[in-house]
Amino acid sequence: MAGEKFYDEEIAKLRDSLFRETSSVSAETFNDYFFSIIGKSLQNGQTILDIGTGNGYVLSELLNRFPQYSLNLFGIDNSSIMVDRARKLLGEKAHIYLGDNFKLPCKDDSFDLVTAKNVTSIYISEIRRVLHEKGYFIFREYGLGKGLVEVSALFSKERLIRSRDLDYYISRLKENDFEIEIAEQHKIKRNYAPKKLIEIAKSFPFIESFSGEDEREILNRFNRPLEEVTSDPLIIVARRKR
Ligand SMILES: C[S@@+](CC[C@H](N)C(=O)[O-])C[C@H]1O[C@@H](n2cnc3c(N)ncnc32)[C@H](O)[C@@H]1O
Repeated sequence: MAGEKFYDEEIAKLRDSLFRETSSVSAETFNDYFFSIIGKSLQNGQTILDIGTGNGYVLSELLNRFPQYSLNLFGIDNSSIMVDRARKLLGEKAHIYLGDNFKLPCKDDSFDLVTAKNVTSIYISEIRRVLHEKGYFIFREYGLGKGLVEVSALFSKERLIRSRDLDYYISRLKENDFEIEIAEQHKIKRNYAPKKLIEIAKSFPFIESFSGEDEREILNRFNRPLEEVTSDPLIIVARRKR
């Protein structure tokens, strides 16, 4: 299954290092910000679905950060390996299902909130279908630069896997009867050893058919012991209108 190759805990750690090696913004700062935004939409008794849940990170953070609320938590991933990991992490605190974001195994009007973090395979009309009227969709992803803006700039747009900007997502959401409450494109500078950039480009495939030639090109451009690279996470909060 594609998802199994696409993502595992090792890769998650690598991607999280995006947020650790910065001089000005730490992983914790951005994460805190993201979860504080989610926190504003929470109420006791809500039913929440995290799509592309991976190892269940978002759901486990909701439990850790908002113990004052009793929440009914659901997660979906199309990788059986990740479903097992999420079940292990969350036990009986959440219901985790194997399923595809493009055909969610959920009834219409089931959720108060749908979250999606670092997953580009989303289908807005499915999200709308499973949300209650006035329900929220909270989305965090990377923008056009896929989290490594200067590295992505070395490659043609066609080779960047699902490289999309804020406007792309906003348009799709509006077409599907969402109103946008928050839409933010962040730019965060970080320092990387060039080898780390290669590691990320290889293991988290944001460049189509990554080759030895591509590797040389990156090492050619980024040849100092530490290179400053921009990460471009975006956050959208959208609400189903009716
Ligand atoms: C980069 S990971 C993010 C995991 C988690 N949201 C997090 O931030 O820690 C993307 C996850 O989406 C899953 N995924 C990719 N395409 C999917 C699809 N069409 N349906 C369901 N899950 C999908 C992958 O298996 C992977 O676990």
